[in-house]
Amino acid sequence: MSAPALPIPRRVLITGASAGIGRETAGALLAAGCEVWGTSRQRSRLPDPGPRFHAVELEQTSADSRHAAWAQVEQECGGRLDALVNNAGDGVFGAFADEDEDVGRLRAQFETLVFGPIGLTRLALPALRRSSRPVVVNVTSLAGRLPIPFMAAYSAGKAALSAYTAALRLEAADVHWVDVQPGDIRTKFNDAMRAPPADSGPQRRSWEVMEASMAAAPPAEVVAQAIVKVVCGEGAPPPVVVVGDFVQAKLAALAPRFLPTRWLESMLRRHYRV
Ligand SMILES: NC(=O)c1ccc[n+]([C@@H]2O[C@H](COP(=O)([O-])OP(=O)(O)OC[C@H]3O[C@@H](n4cnc5c(N)ncnc54)[C@H](OP(=O)(O)O)[C@@H]3O)[C@@H](O)[C@H]2O)c1
Repeated sequence: MSAPALPIPRRVLITGASAGIGRETAGALLAAGCEVWGTSRQRSRLPDPGPRFHAVELEQTSADSRHAAWAQVEQECGGRLDALVNNAGDGVFGAFADEDEDVGRLRAQFETLVFGPIGLTRLALPALRRSSRPVVVNVTSLAGRLPIPFMAAYSAGKAALSAYTAALRLEAADVHWVDVQPGDIRTKFNDAMRAPPADSGPQRRSWEVMEASMAAAPPAEVVAQAIVKVVCGEGAPPPVVVVGDFVQAKLAALAPRFLPTRWLESMLRRHYRV
């Protein structure tokens, strides 16, 4: 009697593997038996957990960098990729009144949060289609459905990526397109943003609410485990996965469906103290 076939290790590319959710997810994917390609804008920031991890340099706002990164991954994975996790991202905090007239902040956020991940996905698509169970995970945010004041560009970028993912589910059903929407997760995400001055009134109060939520938020491990389930599971994964504490992931996520917009926005204004 022959032994049951061992599962083929899944080959996964994850962006933003140097910190926070991406670093935790890369570790969890390795622990689940995957071969992982993890990216950072600076290779030296990436961990060195062993031979099944491959470090890749990627600035996802640059088409040249996306092509160079993909050329490396394609060669090393032999042209077959099972999953792409578009996780890398950053945020910009500030008032609309301080945006420049060419809306540079909005453009910059769309480069990072929308055009970058979609451009990389387009490059990886033929290799994903060689997999028996291709999965693309786009890490968006609860902010895509419950926007954050003074983070309009970020909220809009995440909502755009969610909508793009949903359209691809209709158009290219041979790939599993999964929209993972974290609520607040305790990482150093806020550290990359410029905090508003202490005397900036509603901006400062809103920032302080965000900082307090981040400090009390669940660890990155909860998102990592959700992504591993999507990538390494069998059959069709859920199209949308909301991850966070009970209030955010269960109650707040459903609020736009059940509450009149005026009530919801009044609650959000009170929550952020604007
Ligand atoms: N933390 C939260 O509360 C939360 C909530 C909802 C959604 N999210 C989303 O989850 C994802 C991960 O966030 P996190 O909290 O783990 O943040 P983080 O700890 O700040 O990590 C961000 C990662 O993205 C990479 N990155 C940032 N800008 C990049 C760019 N232009 N090109 C390539 N890589 C870039 C960083 O890599 P290098 O700096 O090494 O290049 C880093 O690995 C983001 O998409 C974020 O929007 C986070």
